[in-house]
Amino acid sequence: MPETGTPAAPFAADLRDGVSLRLLHRDDGPALAAAYSRNREHLEPWEPARPAEFYEPAYHAQRIPVELLGHGSGRAVPLVLDLDGEIVGRVNLSDIVLGAFRNAHLGYWIDARLAGRGVMTAAVEAACAHARDDLGLHRVQAATLLHNAASQKVLARTGFDRIGTAPAYLRIAGRWQDHALFQRILHDD
Ligand SMILES: CC(C)(COP(=O)(O)OP(=O)(O)OC[C@H]1O[C@@H](n2cnc3c(N)ncnc32)[C@H](O)[C@@H]1OP(=O)(O)O)[C@@H](O)C(=O)NCCC(=O)NCCS
Repeated sequence: MPETGTPAAPFAADLRDGVSLRLLHRDDGPALAAAYSRNREHLEPWEPARPAEFYEPAYHAQRIPVELLGHGSGRAVPLVLDLDGEIVGRVNLSDIVLGAFRNAHLGYWIDARLAGRGVMTAAVEAACAHARDDLGLHRVQAATLLHNAASQKVLARTGFDRIGTAPAYLRIAGRWQDHALFQRILHDD
């Protein structure tokens, strides 16, 4: 079995339009609950069905330490998009393994009012640079619903190749749905 990652280095990057990408903080619970509440309708078609408590700060106050533990042990990099202290999206590198795989899974979303400005393209590029330059990973994998054209455009523009279709891959919006799979190879050697 591949070993898990080593603790990730601190990370932050300025993107565009005043938005920065930074590590999740221990006290982000209220801002995260506010961001998910504001974007509930925007995200519902693209994310797992959420319980009512997901929109409460207490839910995130419990989850954040678990995510930070994952970061501390090198298994994940939980990032948020920050605009003047407000959380306006997320980018996650998860399930990081080393060994012969050196791979992470990538997930992301952005606040509806900031979509379509190239911010997520910049964020995915920054996350991949972190994965390659700081974590020494070889590959990043992502999956989108077959009809998620905006997400597929972000991946195409940041150097991901479509590698196939996975039937009934993730339970999104309450049902197991087929996904397009993408990968980006970060190193040639
Ligand atoms: C997918 C998502 C993260 C993209 O973020 P973003 O900041 O808008 O991305 P960018 O602006 O960098 O690029 C998006 C591109 O898709 C295009 N686009 C947006 N909606 C589209 C649609 N319905 N059909 C085709 N293209 C679309 C945009 O015009 C833009 O391309 P352009 O710059 O050439 O005009 C955002 O739409 C989102 O959060 N969606 C909901 C959650 C989600 O789908 N997460 C990903 C799950 S795999």
